[in-house]
Amino acid sequence: MCGIVGYIGHRQAYPVVLKGLKRLEYRGYDSSGVALIDDGLRVFKKKGKVSELEEATIGQNLSGQIGIGHTRWATHGEPSDRNAHPHVSALGKLAMIHNGIIENYASIKEELQNKGYTFKSDTDTEVLLNFIEDIKENNGCSLEEALRIALKRVVGAYCILLVDCNDPHTLLAARKGSPLVIGIGKGEHFLASDASPIIEYTKEVVYVNDYQIAIVKADELILKNLGNERQTPFITKLDMELAAIEKGGYDHFMLKEIYEQPSTIHDCLRGRLKPDVNQIIMGGVDVNLDQLSKAARIMIVACGTSWHAGLVAEYLIEELCRIPVEVEYASEFRYRNPVINPGDVIIAISQSGETADTLVALENAKEKGAIIFGVVNAVGSSIARLSHAGAYTHSGPEIGVASTKAFTGQLAVLSMMALKIAQAKGTISPERFSHLLQELAAIPAKVAKILEDTTGIEAIAKKYKDARDFLFLGRGYNFPVALEGALKLKEISYIHAEGYPAAEMKHGPIALVDDKLPVLFVATKDRYYDKIVSNVQEIKARKGRVICLATEGDTIIPSMADDVMFVPDADEVLAPMLSVVPLQLLSYYTGLALGLDVDKPRNLAKSVTVE
Ligand code: G6P
Repeated sequence: MCGIVGYIGHRQAYPVVLKGLKRLEYRGYDSSGVALIDDGLRVFKKKGKVSELEEATIGQNLSGQIGIGHTRWATHGEPSDRNAHPHVSALGKLAMIHNGIIENYASIKEELQNKGYTFKSDTDTEVLLNFIEDIKENNGCSLEEALRIALKRVVGAYCILLVDCNDPHTLLAARKGSPLVIGIGKGEHFLASDASPIIEYTKEVVYVNDYQIAIVKADELILKNLGNERQTPFITKLDMELAAIEKGGYDHFMLKEIYEQPSTIHDCLRGRLKPDVNQIIMGGVDVNLDQLSKAARIMIVACGTSWHAGLVAEYLIEELCRIPVEVEYASEFRYRNPVINPGDVIIAISQSGETADTLVALENAKEKGAIIFGVVNAVGSSIARLSHAGAYTHSGPEIGVASTKAFTGQLAVLSMMALKIAQAKGTISPERFSHLLQELAAIPAKVAKILEDTTGIEAIAKKYKDARDFLFLGRGYNFPVALEGALKLKEISYIHAEGYPAAEMKHGPIALVDDKLPVLFVATKDRYYDKIVSNVQEIKARKGRVICLATEGDTIIPSMADDVMFVPDADEVLAPMLSVVPLQLLSYYTGLALGLDVDKPRNLAKSVTVE
């Protein structure tokens, strides 16, 4: 949430920063800005997308070999030029960008106002910046020292980049709770919220930790803690190619990422799933198998789409491993004083590995002695580093704001985990175990088959695009898929959509059904098939418009539906990896038909690093 880029070195900073902002735009896109230092400080800010900033800077003096840039997802103050970052301090010497929330900004602001400060924006960032400048001027200390003193007073989360027009050779950065990566070049450094703006220039990076301050010069990187002690930067090599963060011929990242799923699921299974020798090898699970299989209960903590993956895992783990599972919204879990005993197992699911609610919930649980197992996509992210053990989903960078390939990657990892634990506990028969291994191995090819011809899904999207509401219904493993289908449609098309257990529909939502309401049933062949046939009848009897997602070869469900989409047959415990794909496409094509920006839906951000 909010993208941050910085550059210091021998190149002109503006093109590097601008390109970086475009790569980070998925993190927020209501306004953006840059600050450059050459013979003085120049700041350009604009409401709207980064392209609007780019246009506004045409013909301006953009020189400078040090620069910072920001793309915003508003928290304090509406999206506007005035509230866009970078902010400039009262004396006009300092410029700063910030990702996160300064929770005690109001009391600091009051203090400063009492000293005569006025503010140009509504942001917490400008308050922190003036607080830093005030400390610097009054204490006569260095900017670095003032930053340190200020951060000790701050409650909340931040990643900040700070420059001083009187020192064009130093860029200061600090982080707590919001991510920061520093790329190490030859006589240059690149700073960003994630590695995507950096990989084009260098693969050597340092992930800055919470409570660290980075003093960055063209040829030197110093890390210190808030106690002014130097800390050794730990350099890691990025395992990512530039092509992974480009559209590669697709119109949108969302479509590209939907189409990548046969290969991303395959990559996730590769080296782990070995149906020929009837084995699953997962380093992180193997070393903790005893703990996982002896767990009295498992808690799953996540947000958004990752939470839906957690619901599928609940069904999987309870059925295959006979371990009780609770799936928690991270934001609720962290504040409701949950009972956590030492040795409890928590599975954290997160694409970005940076979601603030998930991260803090885990920090609290870890302090209480829980074992944290991370199912994370972004390598080296905060949740991955906080976890005791884990398994990466290996889905590659996901840029489209609505999550697609990360979800199926999460399901693939969670399925393998459940199977491993079940095998260790003896709660699965050898026959069922090897059958599910074969079935799992066949998933990538089945997803590819769904993607071969999507014209039917596109036609359904066009037909129903003007609906005001949508109901998604499913039972068993398909219930979380219904929730995910509704979430995708909301996110991408802004159509009000609700997901419900198909049977529960009778206890309320059925009141909504009339001849205008589209009701989408995830009605693949599983143990609930006959029941869901009855639910479809109940909607038909009330003249609802019925769309069904059915299993190829089924003739009963299609005969009852107004419109139908098909997926190949699969064992029901793995079927969500297939049934979600047409629903992802349905929301994509609906958004497209409505002329919306499917990669950057309004008000959303991909990586929610504020609570
Ligand atoms: C945001 C994104 C969602 C995502 C959720 C959780 O709301 O827009 O797509 O599912 O955060 O993110 P995470 O990175 O923790 O999976």
